[in-house]
Order: sequence, then structure tokens, then C-alpha cells
Amino acid sequence: MVVKAPAAPSAAATETVAPVSTDALPIIAEFVDVHRHYVMGKDNVVRALNGVSMQVKKGDYLAIMGRSGSGKSTMLNILGALDRPTSGEYRVGGRDVSKLDDDDLSDVRGREIGFIFQSFNLIPQLTVLENLEVPLFYQGRVGPESRKKAEYLADRVGLGRRLEHKPMELSGGQQQRVAIARALMNDPLFLLADEATGNLDSNTEKEILDLFDDLRKDAVTIVIVTHNPKVAERADNTLWLRDGKVDRLVDNRLASSAAGDGGHP
Ligand SMILES: Nc1ncnc2c1ncn2[C@@H]1O[C@H](COP(=O)(O)OP(=O)(O)O)[C@@H](O)[C@H]1O
Ligand SMILES: [Mg+2]
Repeated sequence: MVVKAPAAPSAAATETVAPVSTDALPIIAEFVDVHRHYVMGKDNVVRALNGVSMQVKKGDYLAIMGRSGSGKSTMLNILGALDRPTSGEYRVGGRDVSKLDDDDLSDVRGREIGFIFQSFNLIPQLTVLENLEVPLFYQGRVGPESRKKAEYLADRVGLGRRLEHKPMELSGGQQQRVAIARALMNDPLFLLADEATGNLDSNTEKEILDLFDDLRKDAVTIVIVTHNPKVAERADNTLWLRDGKVDRLVDNRLASSAAGDGGHP
């Protein structure tokens, strides 16, 4: 993957943090004591994020939760390279991107992060295939290769027979599948989902969460921000924010097996 900045490390190879457990997978996104403060007036600073440190490793599936005002959107914006920390580091693929200018940050966003939005954000006039090619279009990389890739990914998300359909001709779940395939077009380091199932009924929600599970077979890394505990518990871990800090990190796999055990008298 080509990154414009000087001495850019390759995506996964340069992390020097010693593995503390059996888990030596590369860290692909990392917050190091991230603060995001909003100065609202002479004496009023809102500490939306107030010293958050966390890591996402290759293949992780992480949910971010917290009450309204806890800092979720602020964290999502920084994770998505839409905003910068006031202080601290945000490392993507081993490279600190927290001080990049807007153009370089936008490159990181376009190349390294696959966004999935609640409202799908597909272009209504374009077909499924054309929508999938949009991220590469902006990088001047549309051609036979991108077409092949779009066909492959459409098939991968179960839309191999809908290539020429327009978004209006698809169900909500199908539209979100298109958006997921689109998010994968650039081979991002991770998928970043903002309430990805918030506009879907519960059956369709399950279908999309099943698709996330399926994508993990290809070592796709997923970070979701959600209000919905049912959505979050499908992730391996839930990071709970509270007042701009990490309140706790819950291993949902342990939590669900504990709940299972608790069922026995
Ligand atoms: N652009 C902004 N300017 C000032 N304060 C903000 C801004 N965005 C968020 N905040 C404040 O930061 C805190 C965290 O907000 P946010 O990240 O939106 O939380 P959440 O998404 O969990 O509801 C809140 O107190 C909010 O009012
Ligand atoms: Mg929010």
C-alpha cells in the first residue's frame, strides 16, 4: 500500500511494542493518551476525550459504547481520520497520523479506513458496480482491475446477481451490503462502522452482523460504534467510554459464556 508521507512504514511491519501475551498480531490502530478538548469560551473547556489509550489489532472486532455525551462520536471522528486529537497520538498502521495536514489525513482516510454509515451513503444514480468503484475513482484507479474487484466483492457480500441494480431497487439490507463491499474496495486496514444497522429491522440487522462474522474469515478488522447492546455483544470486545475516558474493556466472549454458566442452578 502506497503512503505519500516520507519514511512511511508499511502497514503492519514496524510495530516494536513487545508482545505481552500469545497475541502478537500487528497493531493497526492505536490511541496513545488521546485528548480532544473543545474550547467553548474563556473558562470553558469540554474534555470530550480525556486521555484515551487503546489498541486495535489485526482481525479484532471491537465495539465502542457509552452513554450519550461519553465521547463516542469524538472517538469515531478521530478513528476515521476526520478529526485530530488535541494531544496524544493516533497511530494507523504504526504511523502517527495525529499531526498530519488535511490532505495527508484525507489520504489516510481514503486508503486505510473503510467507512460504513447508518444511512448507507450510496449514490442513487449509480449501479451497484459503479458505487463500488467510487472510492477508487477518487484516486484515479478505475479500470478493468477495479471492475473485477468490484464484481468479486459484490459477490462476496451476496450481491453477485444485483450488479446493475441501483440502490432504490435494493432492500435496506442489500444497500448496506453494497456499502460494506464499497468499504472493502481499498483493502483498508480496518472497517469503521457508525451505527451500521441503525436503519435496519432486526432480521436485517442480524443478516448484516452475520456478514461481519463471515468477513472475519478473511481477517477483516472491524470497529463499530453503537448504542445497541445487541449489536455490541456480537463483537469480541466492547470498549465502554465514560466522561471521555475508557471506563472498561469487556471481553464479550467471556461475558456470554459466563451468562451461559449462570443459567444453571
Ligand atoms: N464540536 C463540539 N464542540 C463542543 N463540544 C462538543 C463538540 N462535539 C462534542 N462536544 C461535547 O463533547 C462531549 C462528547 O460528545 P460526543 O463525542 O458527541 O459524545 P457521544 O457521541 O458519546 O454522545 C459532549 O459533552 C459534547 O457536548
Ligand atoms: Mg454521538
